[in-house]
Amino acid sequence: MRLLTLGSPADTLKEVVLAGLAAQPKRIPPKYFYDREGSRLFEAICRQPEYYLTRAETALLLTEADSIARCIGPVALMIEPGAGCCAKARMLLGPLKAAAYWPVDIDGETLLAATGRLADELPALDVVAVQHDFTAAEGFAPLLPHLPQNGRRLVYYPGSSIGNAGPDEAVGLLKQFRALAGADGGLLIGFDLKKEATRLHAAYNDAAGVTAAFNLNLLARLNRELGADFRLETFAHHAFYNAEDGRIEMHLVSRMRQQVQVAGATVRFEAGESLHTENSYKYAPQEFEALAARAGFVFRQGWQDSEGLFAVQFYE
Ligand code: AVJ
Repeated sequence: MRLLTLGSPADTLKEVVLAGLAAQPKRIPPKYFYDREGSRLFEAICRQPEYYLTRAETALLLTEADSIARCIGPVALMIEPGAGCCAKARMLLGPLKAAAYWPVDIDGETLLAATGRLADELPALDVVAVQHDFTAAEGFAPLLPHLPQNGRRLVYYPGSSIGNAGPDEAVGLLKQFRALAGADGGLLIGFDLKKEATRLHAAYNDAAGVTAAFNLNLLARLNRELGADFRLETFAHHAFYNAEDGRIEMHLVSRMRQQVQVAGATVRFEAGESLHTENSYKYAPQEFEALAARAGFVFRQGWQDSEGLFAVQFYE
């Protein structure tokens, strides 16, 4: 197992946060949820009874892994952007018989712990943990010169991570996957399907309050890393389905008029003012096929779990 740390991203936490808090409406990109505590809370979200996404995708992979692997064909290298704890890759690496696995993640600590375990379990697999923020301006460009040049590549993007990007941004990311896979490579991608608003609402408002804690941890992180003085009890977790745009929106709403110090700047909040922290887009299968086509991908096959909650599609 090797660790590859790629050049520090052009946009640092401080610059992005200050720009987002100065914007109207206020916003911070969801990639900053994932410090060590945020990754831990996200894993806990995935175990909540209301959060059906992980269970549906895992069940789908368990039943369809062999048929998916047959459809994909021979693969030398599997690259997984935003791999986190690498749990889903495990289910495919066996059936795919890939020689190498390169997970990429902004959170190097979580990645190292996960790949250490994986390398112990699959000693023949060549594992390279890539610590890199691929959402920064350079995208995957810093990674390309490091990749092995022989054999077919599969880009694996599970977990509905693509849902964080709006449609145009998603096409931009898919174009990057196209370059990463190469002309003879493929893309296996998982996304959450459109469904009744009540089901979606429950998934992002779990009764145990884990999603609320995950959302609020963003402010705790800014306190820890930027010396900000957010009082977490003065902000409320707010998540709802915006049907017109086909997305769950997550916000942190200030319970009062207040001001907060963040890295030397004074940020004012009105009572009820929101800080937009995440979008999570939901797609019908054909909607997603149209996005992938705009990025140069040809649809090969799609799978859904038995309840029709979640989809996985393969493109070449
Ligand atoms: C990791 C982006 C797929 O949108 O469902 C879970 C993140 N946010 N609960 C999602 C998340 C709140 C998750 N993704």
